[in-house]
Amino acid sequence: MPVSPPRPIKDIEAIRLALRSWPEVETYLQECKGIIIPLGSTEQHGPTGAIGTDVLTAEAVALEVGRRNGVLVTPAQPFGMAEHHLGFAGTMSLRPATLLAVMQDLVLSLARHGFERVFVINGHGGNISTTKAAFAQVHGTAASRGLQVTPNLRCRLSNWFMAGPVMRQARELYGDKEGHHATPSEIAVTLQVEPTLQSKQRPLPKPAAAGPIHGSEDFRRRHPDGRMGSHPSLAIPEHGALLLETAATALSEDLCNFLSEV
Ligand code: NI
Repeated sequence: MPVSPPRPIKDIEAIRLALRSWPEVETYLQECKGIIIPLGSTEQHGPTGAIGTDVLTAEAVALEVGRRNGVLVTPAQPFGMAEHHLGFAGTMSLRPATLLAVMQDLVLSLARHGFERVFVINGHGGNISTTKAAFAQVHGTAASRGLQVTPNLRCRLSNWFMAGPVMRQARELYGDKEGHHATPSEIAVTLQVEPTLQSKQRPLPKPAAAGPIHGSEDFRRRHPDGRMGSHPSLAIPEHGALLLETAATALSEDLCNFLSEV
């Protein structure tokens, strides 16, 4: 039996967990056992990109996916694993073990109430391996804490910027000027959701090419202005609107498959 029946599109306010009361959440759980956690990072995004780029984008995609499918969206987790960006002012990082513990505790909290499908919409590549490790630990930890976690609990990580249609669209818009960090596609989404950021946009010199990632000092030596082969000055809000639409469509399909998985 599917975990969630098809539901009508709702207002963004209706699917924000932070705006619901506990009885409303209990009622929701009688109909749907799915929930979305937006996961970001607070880290440098080149000389013109916002420090909060990864959480702004993950939350925007998550709210749109939630709205289209009537699935609750938790408050965004704004801090991620960004150790290699610590050479730049404003970056705030969780060590991998800390992020692992945070994600594990958040999933277990939700599972305690009967949520069975936890869909994490992630905006930062550095979170991927740690979040997958957190999912792997969830069931064992639940047992050791005596939590009655349902055997039907499942977690899925969906990285919006790596969805096939999003990567194709970014390639069409920017070609090899997309680069690997502080990309025009992610910056475009931030310009769409936070118009004040448009005032930071300006032409930039050629970026350093993408290279290996070691420590934060090595990162800054290889990528002095924080960019990895990217040209974020190409970003405009209209591109952001297109990318947001493409990401919401792709991830909605992913979410629906996940919710109906047996
Ligand atoms: Ni980013």
